[in-house]
Amino acid sequence: MQPLKSSISNPIAGEARVPGDKSMSHRSLLIGALAIGETVIEGLLEGEDVLCTAAALRALGAGMERGADGAWRVQGVGLGGLREPSTVLDMGNSGTAARLLMGVLASHPLTAFLTGDASLCRRPMARVQVPLEQFGARIVAREGGRMPLAITGAGDPMPIAYRLPVASAQVKSAVLLAGLNTPGRTTAIESQPTRDHTERMLQHFGAEVETTREADGALAVTVTGQPELTGQHVQVPADISSAAFPIVAALIVPGSDITLTAVGMNPRRTGLVDTLVEMGAAVDIRNERDIAGEPVADLHVRAGGLTGIEVPASRAPSMIDEYPILAVAAAVAEGVTVMHGLAELRVKESDRLGAMARGLAACGVRIEEGADSLTVHGCGGPAPGGGSIETDLDHRIAMAFLVLGMASKNPVAIDDAEPIETSFPGFVALMNSLGAVIGPVEAAK
Ligand code: S3P
Repeated sequence: MQPLKSSISNPIAGEARVPGDKSMSHRSLLIGALAIGETVIEGLLEGEDVLCTAAALRALGAGMERGADGAWRVQGVGLGGLREPSTVLDMGNSGTAARLLMGVLASHPLTAFLTGDASLCRRPMARVQVPLEQFGARIVAREGGRMPLAITGAGDPMPIAYRLPVASAQVKSAVLLAGLNTPGRTTAIESQPTRDHTERMLQHFGAEVETTREADGALAVTVTGQPELTGQHVQVPADISSAAFPIVAALIVPGSDITLTAVGMNPRRTGLVDTLVEMGAAVDIRNERDIAGEPVADLHVRAGGLTGIEVPASRAPSMIDEYPILAVAAAVAEGVTVMHGLAELRVKESDRLGAMARGLAACGVRIEEGADSLTVHGCGGPAPGGGSIETDLDHRIAMAFLVLGMASKNPVAIDDAEPIETSFPGFVALMNSLGAVIGPVEAAK
């Protein structure tokens, strides 16, 4: 446990690059491992979540090493070439690592045992178990489809067409990845568009992926099985979900002015930027370009008065990980912000809806928590602060409340900063280099 405290900040200023995109990092390792030949990855997120994926793929026979130049080199085994691991695969805190790997394993005829930390072992895996069993995989999980679990991949997998019951890129990706080593065409149908990094990266490695629209407007994503995947060069942009924390810090600490470089701007990930701009934020999107099939830009952010708005449920998939930090922006804004369609937040690394509601209330912010909504009554300036927050193994709850402390009259403490390593190694150092005052509980002002 590493308790930390964040105190009211002077204006933050400067230029920074946050670590690589977590979603793309997992996918580059997974798809690289299934390709033939070497994949070179620059800008890989070296957070614990991604390192779990790397360790699991090593145990399955793929080579993966970090070079002295910081680039990662993956020696792929080719589709169908994974070998049975002799030990339990520990997926740590990462739902993405667990669910995407289960997708890959579902069409490889071997048995693997997967476990994770207390947070991951609480999270629902039935949402991937159900479609993966349709391919012919056998999965034995704890009650409610929870980890630890065992999976035996199908020796003779059948392609499926599966309509996702929840808007989840992880479920969509698990289905598409299982479809890779399956003859024929596998389709995942989503009624709300979720992040499409798997589709983009599969195409980058040579797979055929087609997206069409169903009669009811849903998107049907089809992968043609048994493609020739060949090793590629991948450049991972900075993670917009990590950039979200300094972005909101710059908006709520008066006088701030920062630039974040090479941020991934995939339109299915930029819901937070759209929302903040609607609230009145000054965010300039500069130098837009494409890197390895993904849009990237530099973001220039200046402090400015934010006004509460109503955030529609339809926006949730494009900013699903950003609600904790949006709730912090809403707490300092003028007026009321209402966020709808938040049911999925209850099954993230923690119950994020409950955690935000409890934490904001502990910091003197008026909130109303609904079953799948959150209403935040903005303080129109610094929040009272002074709360002690239980982070419950959730990196984004930890970072969100450290940012709230930067714009609060009294310091905000968190019980444990260690989970931040899962997605944003160096978060505290980066924020302090911009001007934040985050430090040990005894020493902070
Ligand atoms: C992710 C998808 C999202 C997100 C997670 C990463 C991914 O989960 O919350 O942090 O990389 O596919 P869901 O797709 O289950 O909502």
